[in-house]
Amino acid sequence: MCETAFNELCRSRPEWTGEEYAFLSDRDMLEFHRSLPGYEPTPLRSLPALAARLGVGEIHVKDESVRFGIKAFKALGASYAMYRFLQKRWADLFAESFDPASFRDPAALEKLGLFTFCAATDGNHGRAVAWTARLLGQKAVIYMPADSVAARVENIRAEGAEVVLLEGTFDRCVERCAADAAHNGWQVVSDTAYPGYRDIPGWILMGYTTIFAELEGLLHGPMKTGADAVILPAGVGGLAAAGAFFYSRLYGPKRPCLICVEPLSSDCFLESVRHGKGEPLPTRGNQTSIMAGLNCGIPSPLAWPFLRDAFPFFLAVGDEWAERAMRQYYRPLKDDPRIISGESGSSGLAALLALATSEKLAEVRGQLPLGPDSRILLLNTEGDTDPENFRKVVEPS
Ligand SMILES: Cc1ncc(COP(=O)(O)O)c(C=O)c1O
Repeated sequence: MCETAFNELCRSRPEWTGEEYAFLSDRDMLEFHRSLPGYEPTPLRSLPALAARLGVGEIHVKDESVRFGIKAFKALGASYAMYRFLQKRWADLFAESFDPASFRDPAALEKLGLFTFCAATDGNHGRAVAWTARLLGQKAVIYMPADSVAARVENIRAEGAEVVLLEGTFDRCVERCAADAAHNGWQVVSDTAYPGYRDIPGWILMGYTTIFAELEGLLHGPMKTGADAVILPAGVGGLAAAGAFFYSRLYGPKRPCLICVEPLSSDCFLESVRHGKGEPLPTRGNQTSIMAGLNCGIPSPLAWPFLRDAFPFFLAVGDEWAERAMRQYYRPLKDDPRIISGESGSSGLAALLALATSEKLAEVRGQLPLGPDSRILLLNTEGDTDPENFRKVVEPS
């Protein structure tokens, strides 16, 4: 099953200006990430045999499953946001500057004192916050839906964080995390914004732009991109917003066609594009997709304007497409490389498989740059973060 929508509000030259977008002037994200232990640009893998099979020119996959050894791209956002938060605190207290070296300097951190960082998550963002807190010798408390996969909970505990399991959805975890933080004097590191809370989600968005910056000189040239279409998944929309900002700033109207993919059961961006009047709407789905990282019911109000203004096309796919994509990555055609991709991680390829092969989408496909010369960029945003389900999907008995 799939649902699609073209976005009439998309503009060729989107602009996000004014005080609320001041965070977009940050330029030190890549320099900061390079200073972190274990930093390496993630690989870009090509799948020529699959491209031939699907009738497109090229398929490139930026493989985030190996980012910082925690199997997802999310630490790029959490670490940069926690760095900028501490830098701001420092500027309020001291005259000297606070740079990436200060972030790893125990003496500087001691001067700032101890913090408890907290976050709501379906898995990957919470692990990223816990990972960064451990790096800094700080505490982390992570809120997760009670039905979260045990392996994802354990991975967060293994980073030394406390995990609070709550009945209900991710959105309920966001609310409870904010309430407990206000009560206990903790610092929320949320990847979704809410009224009065935008700084950290803004920095998280900027942190994600490192993924695209790493492609400069590799896939993208200074004046033209090496992709005609870029398919990006959306949970709360931070990653997709980072892509919207990055490509709009660098290439303006010549940016690649940006395609947003969500699970059918948490299709809040698709719902907003179809039925909204420029404002974000909640999903009508029950948020039960196996694509746990994308199980978000409401767009982040910070991310929404980026997707609304820069993405011409939105697609929601059923879980069967994600499973098909996981298997396709795992059992490549001919000499294409094997890629380990989890449920949310495979969503970009899930969208491409649906668009390229579903009869029902033939008309839509014709209106997108998905022809024999088209170059497609996908992100594999996650590895096998639920190893048990991964095995079940890729090696069914
Ligand atoms: C693996 C994976 N892919 C994509 C996303 C979507 O990112 P965002 O919530 O910023 O839209 C997430 C979010 O947690 C994720 O874990």
